[in-house]
Amino acid sequence: MKELTTDHLLGIKYLQKEDIDLIFKTADHFKEVINRPIKKVPSLRDITIANLFFENSTRTKLSFELAEKRLSADIINFSAAQSSVKKGETLIDTVNNILSMKVDLIVMRHSQVGAGVFLSKHVKAKIINAGDGAHEHPTQALLDTYSIREKLGTVAGKKVVIIGDILHSRVALSNIFALLKQGAEVKVCGPVTLIPKHIRSLGVSVETDLKKALTWCDVANVLRVQHERMDIKYFPSVREYTQQFGINAELLHSLKKEIVIMHPGPINRGVEITSDVADSNQSIILNQVENGVAIRMAVIYLLAQKIKN
Ligand code: CP
Repeated sequence: MKELTTDHLLGIKYLQKEDIDLIFKTADHFKEVINRPIKKVPSLRDITIANLFFENSTRTKLSFELAEKRLSADIINFSAAQSSVKKGETLIDTVNNILSMKVDLIVMRHSQVGAGVFLSKHVKAKIINAGDGAHEHPTQALLDTYSIREKLGTVAGKKVVIIGDILHSRVALSNIFALLKQGAEVKVCGPVTLIPKHIRSLGVSVETDLKKALTWCDVANVLRVQHERMDIKYFPSVREYTQQFGINAELLHSLKKEIVIMHPGPINRGVEITSDVADSNQSIILNQVENGVAIRMAVIYLLAQKIKN
């Protein structure tokens, strides 16, 4: 397969297994490029990309920007806080104004579920979803599963538990789709109030006992509790959450086997994970961030080929 089956990256849900294989193969090449003394290739000198961030971001925004620069694309950055969105302009008007400046591809983070899908139906540009509300975060799931493949050699057959606030997490949903498409077994673990009732219908199992979940898995992907998306209390206190679902070194040592620890960031140290675990040899958290640049270079490159063809 030489090109993606989709014109946009709106969610892992819309990708075939072959698309993921192609993105990983392309990312392998770009990972080699970004480890050279000269980390840049001229591939996208004729492409202009707008990064539209309507919601806060550190890793994703910087990683996309660096990926675009490494590919020699022209880029413009937009942050909602300083824009005319504050004066009542619609999303379509905002984006069409940006597109009239001859932009080819849009990377967008938005708090509304489905914002990327909506935009793809109304504007003439390739769209990459950089996170839409509590729905999908496809490049995060791609970089997460790429990092598992790098660490363990393959994703197929591996047992992965996603721990924490599954209900409000776009990372969880995209990871579930990406892991299942690549043949992993997936379990979710957290307080029952933070696990969606329908989750088993996606093909995952549920465990509310953290020690049992960790004993089962090869990889634990630990999520942050998203207080900013909660309008009610889902557990009695942060202290109790940490006691029941926090990962610490004592717990990991009690397993008598080594598992891989992941976290998409941002981390709340001492809440869902202790510093000694986050910074341990078992943790691949910074490898995930490093791989994010190669994965985003691959996604942008492959979508840009569809513009050129
Ligand atoms: N993992 C992630 O999406 O982090 P940011 O919110 O900092 O982009």
